[in-house]
Amino acid sequence: MNKQTLTEKQNWINEKLYQTTNHIQLPNKLKDALMYAIESGGKRLRPILMLSAFEAFSNHRDKIITPAVALEFIHTYSLIHDDLPAMDDDDLRRGKATLHKKFDEATAILIGDGLLTFAFQTITTSSKLEAEEKVYVLSQLSKSAGFEGMISGQFMDIEAENRHISPEVLSEIHHKKTGELIRSSVRIGAYLGGATPPQIEALDEYARYLGIIFQVQDDILDVIGSEEVIGKPVGSDESLNKSTYPQLLGMDGAIKRRDHYMLQAKKSLEEANVAQSDLWEFIELFGNRTH
Ligand code: IPE
Ligand code: IPE
Ligand code: MG
Ligand code: MG
Ligand code: MG
Repeated sequence: MNKQTLTEKQNWINEKLYQTTNHIQLPNKLKDALMYAIESGGKRLRPILMLSAFEAFSNHRDKIITPAVALEFIHTYSLIHDDLPAMDDDDLRRGKATLHKKFDEATAILIGDGLLTFAFQTITTSSKLEAEEKVYVLSQLSKSAGFEGMISGQFMDIEAENRHISPEVLSEIHHKKTGELIRSSVRIGAYLGGATPPQIEALDEYARYLGIIFQVQDDILDVIGSEEVIGKPVGSDESLNKSTYPQLLGMDGAIKRRDHYMLQAKKSLEEANVAQSDLWEFIELFGNRTH
């Protein structure tokens, strides 16, 4: 996937996000906060990954619009809540003030709640998806964002502050808090594109590696990234004494671990026999990203 394709996909998803939210009638301040959350940028990597998994099997984008938008709503909600004082207490996100700083905590909590709920509403009201497809998308999204996935992961992440945990437990946290949503992007994209159940299962392993690569690199960038480039505070993990790979294994160990997972991801994509170029390039895109 060249830079131009990536930008095209980013623009596509940004337009869809805007179209889906701009018409919502809300009290003025809540609407301003919603549009601040939607228009504040972000790499949009999860919906682009979903679209790319879809396009490995189909060329008609219609069906993937709503699930891609819903997934980005859920991701955006997770960041808004992740930045709250009760969680990571961060002031900068996507190069701008976090929502609770720009507005207030109550508004940030409610925008997060609203985005999560609206994600499911957009799926149920979609005119492009069959009933069975809606059930599939809803079950994947709720499973990955819910208790079995991100919620437990975020809880364990906070519980692991100021503690020593094993690399195995850290890997479970990473899978849950970040990996599951990324995994559901691939599953939903492949399923709606028309992949067979064995093809979906084969891609699933690739997606599991991709999720963990993403979070390991996030932890690395929290140490060696530049605030201007990553658009969020550098050193946030260290200041909260978070359990991360650089903290547990040192920077060299973390990089080695990431590279090992990148190799494994490549192997599983080859085994899946759908080494479609865009999916292939996500491994580098996730592992070697600078923001
Ligand atoms: C940040 O995700 C949260 C993690 C799971 C590490 P991204 O790095 O995709 O954030 P945006 O959407 O581009 O801001
Ligand atoms: C957050 O992980 C994962 C989520 C589910 C939001 P981080 O706390 O490391 O994400 P950043 O670094 O704040 O983006
Ligand atoms: Mg966090
Ligand atoms: Mg955080
Ligand atoms: Mg982080």
